[in-house]
Amino acid sequence: LASVLQLTKLLSHRPEVIVPAGYGLRTFQGPADVPLWLALRDRAFARLRVGIRSWSSADFDSELTAKPWWRDEHLWFVHGATDPADVVGSVVLAARGEGPTARPVVHWLSVLPSHRRNGLGRLLMARLEQQCWDLGQRQVWLETHVAWTAAVELYRHLGYLPATGVE
Ligand SMILES: CC(C)(COP(=O)(O)OP(=O)(O)OC[C@H]1O[C@@H](n2cnc3c(N)ncnc32)[C@H](O)[C@@H]1OP(=O)(O)O)[C@@H](O)C(=O)NCCC(=O)NCCS
Repeated sequence: LASVLQLTKLLSHRPEVIVPAGYGLRTFQGPADVPLWLALRDRAFARLRVGIRSWSSADFDSELTAKPWWRDEHLWFVHGATDPADVVGSVVLAARGEGPTARPVVHWLSVLPSHRRNGLGRLLMARLEQQCWDLGQRQVWLETHVAWTAAVELYRHLGYLPATGVE
């Protein structure tokens, strides 16, 4: 589909992670985080010209925790500095394929509308890329939609390029 963009980036160095003032960064801590993540996803993807289907906690399990690549420490939240439950952004590091040829893939990058343009999307991507680097990966993939213009601009800004011919 022409409306789906496959993008990729070669990592040239280990990204630095700088958390903007007023925010904290943490990983997924278990079942209590599931409703927080689902509500964040709904709110972040609302009002996009091309929307997404809302997920239940059963969807969370089948789409994320049941996957062979799932690791609690590969779902990050940005939250308000004083309250870890006040989640305002998230990203998931997934994989396509299995074993030594598995490719790191970015899933569900989301920041609440009221917290955008504060560098949180950039922060989440830097943390994910840093993790990939530390795992020995030097290339990251993702899929996005041409209608998700903020995301397309962010990825372009970060150096992601069309993965033409790569797959
Ligand atoms: C995409 C998204 C995560 C970006 O989050 P964010 O925290 O606002 O992004 P940042 O503040 O880190 O932006 C970093 C850079 O990306 C670019 N950018 C981000 N949003 C942009 C927009 N709406 N228009 C143009 N450029 C944009 C800018 O270059 C920006 O740097 P600047 O603010 O210094 O100009 C957020 O808009 C979102 O949740 N969108 C809806 C969900 C979505 O589309 N997710 C991606 C699915 S693949």
